[in-house]
Amino acid sequence: MSLPIPLERDSDRTLQEQIYHFIRSRALDGRYRTGLQLPSTRELGTSLGISRKTVVLAYDWLASEGYIETRRGSGTFICRIFEAPAVVVDGGDDAVGRGLRPPVVLDDLRLPPARPRVRPSLDFYYGRPDPRQFPIKAWRALISEHLGQFSAQLSEYGAPGGLPDLREAIAEHLAIAKGMSVDPACIVITAGAQDGLSVICRLLVTPGMPVAVEDPGYAPASRLLASNGARICPIPVDRDGIVASAIDGTAARLIYVTPSHQFPSGVVMSLQRRRELLAAAEAQGAYVVEDDYDGEIIFDRPPLAALAALDRDRRVIYVGSFSKTIGAGIRLGFLVLPPELAAPAAAAKTLASNGQAWLEQAVLASFIRRGSFQNHVRRMRIAYRARRDALIGALHDWHGEGIGISGEDAGMHLMCVLPPSVPDAHAIAASARSVDVGLYTPADASVMEFARSDAPERRLILGYGALTPDEIVLAIRRVRSVC
Ligand SMILES: Cc1ncc(COP(=O)(O)O)c(C=O)c1O
Repeated sequence: MSLPIPLERDSDRTLQEQIYHFIRSRALDGRYRTGLQLPSTRELGTSLGISRKTVVLAYDWLASEGYIETRRGSGTFICRIFEAPAVVVDGGDDAVGRGLRPPVVLDDLRLPPARPRVRPSLDFYYGRPDPRQFPIKAWRALISEHLGQFSAQLSEYGAPGGLPDLREAIAEHLAIAKGMSVDPACIVITAGAQDGLSVICRLLVTPGMPVAVEDPGYAPASRLLASNGARICPIPVDRDGIVASAIDGTAARLIYVTPSHQFPSGVVMSLQRRRELLAAAEAQGAYVVEDDYDGEIIFDRPPLAALAALDRDRRVIYVGSFSKTIGAGIRLGFLVLPPELAAPAAAAKTLASNGQAWLEQAVLASFIRRGSFQNHVRRMRIAYRARRDALIGALHDWHGEGIGISGEDAGMHLMCVLPPSVPDAHAIAASARSVDVGLYTPADASVMEFARSDAPERRLILGYGALTPDEIVLAIRRVRSVC
């Protein structure tokens, strides 16, 4: 007997998964009755033109979930499936109203808007590194190297604050790249910056606590803080960064900033403003959260000292992420904490998730230690500088000096202000869609804005990390053809 399984070799599912789903769905819906004999693994492998081992793995999987059973000497058969009793689903709100379910504490306003599933082929969505630049060869080699050495760490829980080797590698990197002198014991490894912010909320935010944030600023941070009960105090941003003097009088005990490349304006906080901010935090007895989400990507100038490097008073919590330098999919970041917060942060991380996966941490530690991370960042800076230059050139070709540009000194996005001669930013973004180009207004690019004006939106946040210079020129040419 053979089974007509239509295997797709370029599917996202492995062959083993395809066989599993094919047989499982038929066992569940009754097309394969109880007791039906399946072909042997050898027969099925031969008839499908695949290795027997793949079929064995699929059969083992089905057997482990009780869909099939193998009787020695007689063959493999579909089992009797015991279906769970049908679940009666009560209507959502009504059920909550009648007290049948607890109300959901997180309201819609605090949830990020759903992202469109299909993105245009030439997409300027902010904050995306180029997937084609992911260091796949080195990463693959390090994964197999680490898996090749038997490690009990795969089956055990790791240190609460993260793999010691990775914390040491990060501390050494920060000393060179950011001028920070860091004790690895003060580092906690997280699943990216957002997870780091969650840990901070868990440690410090109490209901009603005033927290100062940049306005405009990064919406996921404000939403997270608000979802933990913080009272958000928006503080304006000018050409030097957050206006530190405006923090006085807010009674904020926590101040969240993005000094390396303010989100979304791209302003780099001046040294003077960094000092004023630290003084304001000291006066108020506040911690400062320094979100350095894309601080490794700098062009044309040496990096300014991190706030955490200037901080004599130990009140800065530095939030690092590998989402922009390597990729958001690896979900790795870290916190550098003042000493008194290090153990509580590791405890909070343990409570939340029992720490990060060992393999990814081990791979990243080797990647940093062997100099590959530095080399990769150097390559990314060169690539992103060329992309930024292509974008600025294309925007100037379009509108000369009439187009305003800010935030081009660092990171992977810039903000442009459209000249009065063109329609507003929403209209431009809609026209761009018609030619398969993604342009985004601040509201569509995770920007939280408290001081809103009713004037038509003229700003676009342009992420150029994921497009080559040629693609950028082509994209702007397409936009010009419809605007
Ligand atoms: C201001 C800011 N902080 C943090 C992040 C990154 O978050 P994560 O490390 O959780 O991917 C981003 C991503 O775009 C960001 O724009």
